[in-house]
Amino acid sequence: MFPRYRRLRQAPWIRDLVAEVSIAPAQLIQPYFLVDGNEVKEEISALPGQFRYSFDTIVEALHKAQEAGIKMVALFPKIDAKLKDEQASYSLAENNFFINGLVKLKKQFPNIGFMVDVALDPYTSHGHDGILGRGDVDNDATVAILAQYSTMIAEAGVEVVAPSDMMDGRVAAIRERLDVSGFQNTMICSYAAKFCSNFYGPFRAAVGSQALGGNIDKSGYQLDFRNSKEALKEVIQDSAEGADMIIIKPGLPYLDVICRVEQICDLPIIAYQVSGEYAMLKLAAREGLLDFNAAYLETLISLQRAGSNAIITYGATEIAPLL
Ligand code: PBG
Repeated sequence: MFPRYRRLRQAPWIRDLVAEVSIAPAQLIQPYFLVDGNEVKEEISALPGQFRYSFDTIVEALHKAQEAGIKMVALFPKIDAKLKDEQASYSLAENNFFINGLVKLKKQFPNIGFMVDVALDPYTSHGHDGILGRGDVDNDATVAILAQYSTMIAEAGVEVVAPSDMMDGRVAAIRERLDVSGFQNTMICSYAAKFCSNFYGPFRAAVGSQALGGNIDKSGYQLDFRNSKEALKEVIQDSAEGADMIIIKPGLPYLDVICRVEQICDLPIIAYQVSGEYAMLKLAAREGLLDFNAAYLETLISLQRAGSNAIITYGATEIAPLL
């Protein structure tokens, strides 16, 4: 006699009863892109269905996200090219529209978590995540700016700062700076394992850090995608430096990394399903090659099954009502 595994697959109710993984809107984090100005809501051609908003139009989008059950959003600035320079000066400028806009927005949405990326790529004229020195990104000079930027966004009311720059020692420096500045409760969600990926293109087009199809080389600081032990090292280190949560990014090509990290790390793991992953699904669905909702949900479930607690994903608000 052979075992009849199909018994547990014979009807939806029993399949649902024995399902190992489920996903709720509260575990999805919706990214948004913000621009200066008023009444802006422009579609991002590289990210079908995603928009750049000004701080007045984002209000409606956040209400919708909230109604759909989304509990946290990830906010990214798109800075006018004229304001970018080699030193990323506008990041720390008093008139930074993004930081000033956050202050007001936070007051309007006290019950939804704000996560803000900490890296200099939206602000540098060259598009690197830090400032340059001796032919490469200068680690320590960049970390000093990131720590200051973190206190500025914490002061604006942002609850979660998310360093995505991959400089060494930045989590400890940010934690210390936040603490001495009175922001002991500000959480750090570190992009601990951020790979040097080919799937970031649509995001870079969205924030204008690089023309679509360009190829800026971040391999001097982002992880080599041939390595997973390196990801474990980064996670252990960021956790020792005081990270509250860690991000693994991209998502689907790195399920093995999520799975390995989950076994050694007791911090919550957030998978970032990046722009290129989302765009692939959208475009394939547009061509009639797959059903977007069904295929997208499968990818989200896979990320949870591998061991993530939550997912940053562009379709969060869209899929939430269907969960
Ligand atoms: C900035 C940053 C990037 C992403 C998130 N934060 C781009 C990069 O590192 O070049 C990519 C996100 C996505 O592709 O959706 N450091």
